[in-house]
Amino acid sequence: MMWGGRMKGKLDRRALEFSSSIALDIRLLPYDVLASIAWAEAIRKAGILSAGELRRMKGALRLIAREPIPSPAELAVYEDVHSFVESRLRDRIGDTADKLHTGRSRNDQVLTDVALYIRRSADRIVRELKNLSKVFLNLASKNKKVPMPGFTHLQPAQVVTLGAHFMAYAEMFLRDLGRIKLLLQPLDACPLGSGAIGGTTIPVDRDFLARRLGFPRPTASAMETIAGRDLASDFLYALTILMIHLSRFSEEVILWSNPYFGFVRLPDRFSTGSSLMPQKRNPDLSELTRGRAARAIADLTGILTLQKGLPLTYNRDLQEDKVYLFDLVDLVTATLRVHVRMVPRFKFNRKRLREACSVGYMEATDLAEYLAKKGVPFRQAHEIIGRLVARLERRRRKFRDLTLKDLQAFDPRFGPDVVALLNAEQSPWRKQTYGSVSPESVGRRVIRLRLTRIY
Ligand code: ARG
Repeated sequence: MMWGGRMKGKLDRRALEFSSSIALDIRLLPYDVLASIAWAEAIRKAGILSAGELRRMKGALRLIAREPIPSPAELAVYEDVHSFVESRLRDRIGDTADKLHTGRSRNDQVLTDVALYIRRSADRIVRELKNLSKVFLNLASKNKKVPMPGFTHLQPAQVVTLGAHFMAYAEMFLRDLGRIKLLLQPLDACPLGSGAIGGTTIPVDRDFLARRLGFPRPTASAMETIAGRDLASDFLYALTILMIHLSRFSEEVILWSNPYFGFVRLPDRFSTGSSLMPQKRNPDLSELTRGRAARAIADLTGILTLQKGLPLTYNRDLQEDKVYLFDLVDLVTATLRVHVRMVPRFKFNRKRLREACSVGYMEATDLAEYLAKKGVPFRQAHEIIGRLVARLERRRRKFRDLTLKDLQAFDPRFGPDVVALLNAEQSPWRKQTYGSVSPESVGRRVIRLRLTRIY
């Protein structure tokens, strides 16, 4: 224990088991060692360690980082990763180890470890997300001329393209990348040197510490630093939005792979069967992604709820932040990795996508806009086409069964050029606006995003 002097006897076995965080925070070990080395240098500068002591301490800390991690059972006797590192240090350099904690608290230590961990995890997630964005961007480009039905309310709305659909997700991922970057700006400040609550009487150079650990500056308020978990909360928020995007995509994959849709065939190596029904081919990975988005939201809710009733500054409740943080980081990393491998292997049924465009009268909006361009007020045009759809439906006909004569009998303002519109699958090519689903618009956006090299 790091606080034995005041108590008689050791902490009760069950109490230790209940309060220990080592099983979870052992993964902070490399960061705890890094921060400890920086700290040792800082207190050497403050006159607490001799040059020799610093040298031995740094050498031992480096070795500790390289040692294999003990089994969970062996770890269980420690309160947390910080006491574990210190105890290992004592094994190696004896009493000198007792000087390391001068002016430092586990409160500022754990925040520093976590900040370093978040930086590393964010890098990894950004890398995977860029990979996935590239996959989506390639699919957007490759399929920008593949028409497919577009839905609102999950009902046929307008024909879009498969490429535009992928582009929509690529844009979400692009914003996710930006959101991670933006929300991690507070990572620019180093918590170390805040002490237990209000700084320390040891004159440590916090600018040096910050620089040494790769932060531009130290945090400005020791009390705020110790009490706060904003950084982790921001990170979890950004990751949760990303999981929601992946979950929505998963829902599409689940629908599209249903044979009644028949839009996509999932690769064998990314589909699962049934233990009872031999014919089954299930989209479990997408379902799990959808399910795990619930866990993401739970993690975010958890870390927020954890903080809402806490008075300044540190409260032990805060130890639980890592439960949520680690869970979501692992979850997002794994989800991204599966998608990077799975999505490029989807087999889209272009014929089926095209056929599906002829269901649901999706030419209707183009036709109403055609009349509007001929000077018919749009509300009236809407009404005219609506009645036309109702009649076609009664007669079980499609727009393309109509001749120019039929149309002109319905409304004299239809001219010969309308015939070209009786073809829903051509609709994306007729779109004229920036950001539309037209192959030209999607193609231009792909080029633009590739040039910016964001991905
Ligand atoms: N395991 C603790 C946590 O993660 C480390 C800080 C402990 N501080 C304390 N005063 N007991 O929050």
